[in-house]
Amino acid sequence: MTSPSRPTASRFEHVPLVVYPDSATAARAVAAEIAALIRARQAAQRPVVLGLATGSTPLGLYAELVRLHREEGLSFANVLTFNLDEYYPMAPEHARSYRHFMQVHLFDHLDLPRAQTHVPDGTVPLAGVDAHCREYEDRIEAAGGIDFQILGIGRTGHIGFNEPGSARRSRTRLVTLDPVTRRDASGDFGGEENTPRYALTMGVRTILAARRIVLLAWGQHKAEIVRAAVEGPITPQVTASFLQEHEQVQYVTDRAAAGALTRYRTPWLLGALDDQGLAWDARMTRRAIIWLSQLRGKAVLKLTDEDYNEAGLQDLLRIQGSAYEANLTGFYELQHTITGWPGGRDPARTRPGDAPVRPLRATSADVFPKRVLVLSPHPDDDVIGMGGTLCRLVEHGHEVHIAYQVSGAHAVADEALIRALRFVADSGLGRPEAAERLRALIAAHEAAGGWPATSEIPDWKRLVRRQEALAAARVCGVPSERLHFLDLPFYHASPGTRRHLGERDRTAMRELLGTIRPHLIFAAGDLDDPHGTQRLCLHVLRDALAALAGESWVAASELWLYRGAWAEWSADEIDLAVPLSPQEVLRRRRAIFCHETQKDLALFLGDDRREFWQRTEDRSRHLAETYNALGLAEYEAIEAFKRYAPDEFIRDLPV
Ligand code: F6R
Repeated sequence: MTSPSRPTASRFEHVPLVVYPDSATAARAVAAEIAALIRARQAAQRPVVLGLATGSTPLGLYAELVRLHREEGLSFANVLTFNLDEYYPMAPEHARSYRHFMQVHLFDHLDLPRAQTHVPDGTVPLAGVDAHCREYEDRIEAAGGIDFQILGIGRTGHIGFNEPGSARRSRTRLVTLDPVTRRDASGDFGGEENTPRYALTMGVRTILAARRIVLLAWGQHKAEIVRAAVEGPITPQVTASFLQEHEQVQYVTDRAAAGALTRYRTPWLLGALDDQGLAWDARMTRRAIIWLSQLRGKAVLKLTDEDYNEAGLQDLLRIQGSAYEANLTGFYELQHTITGWPGGRDPARTRPGDAPVRPLRATSADVFPKRVLVLSPHPDDDVIGMGGTLCRLVEHGHEVHIAYQVSGAHAVADEALIRALRFVADSGLGRPEAAERLRALIAAHEAAGGWPATSEIPDWKRLVRRQEALAAARVCGVPSERLHFLDLPFYHASPGTRRHLGERDRTAMRELLGTIRPHLIFAAGDLDDPHGTQRLCLHVLRDALAALAGESWVAASELWLYRGAWAEWSADEIDLAVPLSPQEVLRRRRAIFCHETQKDLALFLGDDRREFWQRTEDRSRHLAETYNALGLAEYEAIEAFKRYAPDEFIRDLPV
């Protein structure tokens, strides 16, 4: 594999790493290397031993290997495979077992006899686990050792299921899964309570014994852990960092997963930007100045020539002329992100001498009031991500619509539904037979510990979430006729099956946009969302905008991305910062409180057990502190947005 990215002799990266523009191109390159190895061994009439991973990462690679087999006659007859891991306990025929995964995505499509494939056996009794693990190692050895090992990386930094704390010398064994790993897998198992706690995994030593190792990583949600594994110290806390000791290792990533590496985040540390094909444009300048201010612990306007020089920003200093000039450039860039008028200023309330509302584009600056569409993937993302701004937009007199993209039914705990059903049954309203049926449903749940298979349950759960959304919108002042419950069908796929956007999702999104023709669109840009729902909701928006791209209102509209519960934009990414007063923070809290069924989630999600309102407040307060530390005014809280012109968004959104 040769690197298609610019060559960077980075002193920060401790392993070879190539960055491809996207995961599909990367997967093809890796498949080509594997194919070449298989063919070389065939020519020598020798077998080849592959170490394989499961999870979402290698799917493109496996699809390409299948294509090479079907279309280019690549035979796997001389291949032996050993998988990294298997959940425990787990039957091989279980739909979520790794054995099943491998059959469906790879083995069933190749000329590879089952006897040549090995996956740890999740059915061995506990007493036999150690012997089984030893035998697995013996088999690898008897096969001549692994020639080529494919790895993914978990958000804990695990390879295989070697969670933080796994020793360098660990062998194949039974392990307890980290809470973060279980949370990431919970979407496949229909909730965290159903997600296995244990797994059998090859050890770090087993993996490092492979002759060639290729670790794949795609997507922004892997960026921080890739940085830790590649640029950080070798530590059992990030088991992928042990790969730094391997002679023949290669990291292969897409651009998003490489985004936190020094070469992208702070490229000036690697030398002149020119030499790297980069330039000191406005964004890079702002990023460097914010970085410097945080590094030195000083407000932007207090940075000196020495600060710039000593931190390696001589070039920037030269271009700007002096620290004084550079500071002002950075300061104004930041200051102009802030506005209390996220939809523009009401001309009737504008006084001569009022500063223009900077972040808005000229095309929409004059329209007042505006049609605003807030897209909320789940019924609570709107108020969690931008509840304060939402209230502000309503107060300023804009026509604010909220579209709830999915029903959120999966996230209603059974107990919460039982409470609601009892309320309905006991209300005395409706026909007595209906009340009896509900009581029977509850009794059936109590007897069996779960709901009988009936489509009625998702309908009730959807209704519960709808009531919560209605209540929250009322707190924000959005009338119910401006609420749109899209209930996109992709979300209906039963938990554990892969979810895909379909034509009905795209049509629903397109029709809504076409009806409202918004001047401003706010969408959730939280690609770290562990359930992947936000990602699909963003993609459906992209597809709908692409289909409508010819319409004049699309070109004139503005698109702002807010972050959800899981992450915040970093200061250098923010284009629009809306400060909130203490009263607005409380109002937002009241709106989030309306989503009562979501309180339970705090018990499962995140290690700190904070509820959504707490996450939101901590996040927006922290951002206000960050702005303040940079030398801007002291606000109670800030909600932040990143701009996308719709055409850029259609082009750039990572898949
Ligand atoms: C899978 C495995 C894990 C995954 C990792 C990333 O066999 O051992 O280490 O590679 O958890 O998972 P995905 O690819 O789903 O992000």
